[in-house]
Amino acid sequence: MNLAIGSDHAGFEAKQELIPFLTNEGHTVIDLGCNSADSVDYPDFAVMVAKSVQSGESDLGILICGTGIGMSITANKVLGIRAALCTSIAHAELSRQHNNANILCLGARLQSAQEQMDITLAFLNAEFEGQRHARRVDKIHDLTGC
Ligand code: RB5
Repeated sequence: MNLAIGSDHAGFEAKQELIPFLTNEGHTVIDLGCNSADSVDYPDFAVMVAKSVQSGESDLGILICGTGIGMSITANKVLGIRAALCTSIAHAELSRQHNNANILCLGARLQSAQEQMDITLAFLNAEFEGQRHARRVDKIHDLTGC
């Protein structure tokens, strides 16, 4: 898969660890920054990743900040984006299966590196189940006409 990834300073180290992990899993990773642990504003990176997914450049996105909250709030402002802040494998699987989430948000300050990798793998390996869930997801997008 083509994956867009982005973080703020709080998620920078986690992003740098996830990228080779994802590449080893056979994915193509588009790193949209940030590029150091210097302080930055998470919305700037959330929007870049969200637009990469929205345009189809990326199949799915991954966003990492301190909690995952700011990234998820921001990404969900972009039309067509369903960003899910996942703190467990079950969250990750169900966000794909039921909500067709297209961006995974992680909280680097609240999750270990191993948890981040396990949650990311679960997200990438799960598939949308469609049917009644598709009707519900359509109702979300009806709110914004997209
Ligand atoms: C940065 O200090 C922190 O606020 C940010 O990484 C994120 O957790 C916001 O939701």
